[in-house]
Amino acid sequence: SSENRSLQNEVKKLKETKNAVILAHYYQVPEIKQVADFVGDSLELAKKAAQSDADIIVFAGVHFMAETAKILNPSKKVLLPDLKAGCSLAESCEPAAFKKFVEDHPGHIVVTYINCSAEIKAMSDIVCTSSNAEKIIRSIPEDIPIIFAPDRNLGKYLVEKTGRDMLLWDGACLVHEAFSIDKLLALHKKYPSAKIIAHPESESHILKIASYIGSTSGMLDHVTKSDHKTFIVATEAGILYEMQTHLPHKTLIPAPAKENNSCACSECAYMKMNSLEKLYSCLNEETPEIRLKETLIKKARGPIDRMLALSK
Ligand code: 13P
Ligand code: SF4
Repeated sequence: SSENRSLQNEVKKLKETKNAVILAHYYQVPEIKQVADFVGDSLELAKKAAQSDADIIVFAGVHFMAETAKILNPSKKVLLPDLKAGCSLAESCEPAAFKKFVEDHPGHIVVTYINCSAEIKAMSDIVCTSSNAEKIIRSIPEDIPIIFAPDRNLGKYLVEKTGRDMLLWDGACLVHEAFSIDKLLALHKKYPSAKIIAHPESESHILKIASYIGSTSGMLDHVTKSDHKTFIVATEAGILYEMQTHLPHKTLIPAPAKENNSCACSECAYMKMNSLEKLYSCLNEETPEIRLKETLIKKARGPIDRMLALSK
């Protein structure tokens, strides 16, 4: 709309005058991604945040992503358009309970998926994302037992993929557990030539019928390189905008959710808490800002740096 366009122009002007950079996750709404300096998956966005020499980093994503940006580049002002943009998966791993879990299982290497709070990262040995998790697990000597948290679905997938018997924390993402296997199979019958692709946070019965499993960027890359024309995509529906924009000649269908909601697909309510209006006011007023204790930043940094060193 013209209203959106004029707000987008204001955002662009502010960005220049304030020497700010806008990083947006694929799950954000199109009008935010259109003004972003970079759109990517969680690993790519963490790398961009670490390298940024802007004075302000505006993170159009969820809280743990903005926190990771702050940990990696603590001298910068890191803004998140809505501080309540959390993550069901991060919330499924509460620090006190996790601390006890780790203490109850001494001698384990603690690998945490980046979708967790800074407190959880600070209790980890190494962090991973969905695009490097397999590599990180394989880098750990076979004789050392592993704790993997917080996502049980990604954990189970990695156990099967690598053959490593890991101790799993019982957390999950609401958005990726919302897919209906019955509706998905029915949809596949309607489009028999379609390939199913899925994010590894999805449940194992969904992953079992997927021809490709990977991160948001991984899926985009896969669809780009594949000769197939039709895909059913099991992840947050925001990625479809990227795929369709890059690949207008492909037929892309969102995997159906159990409950009928506005899009009959699965959307992350946390990601969608950010809006173009909130992005504008956050950049204009330079708030809300991510603030973390220096001690916490120091503790959480090592495990993220270890991941980055293995992800070059
Ligand atoms: P990616 O690492 O694939 O970007 O996933 C982030 C996320 O929140 C998935 O739900
Ligand atoms: Fe968290 Fe799931 Fe939303 Fe990703 S899609 S941010 S894992 S709640």
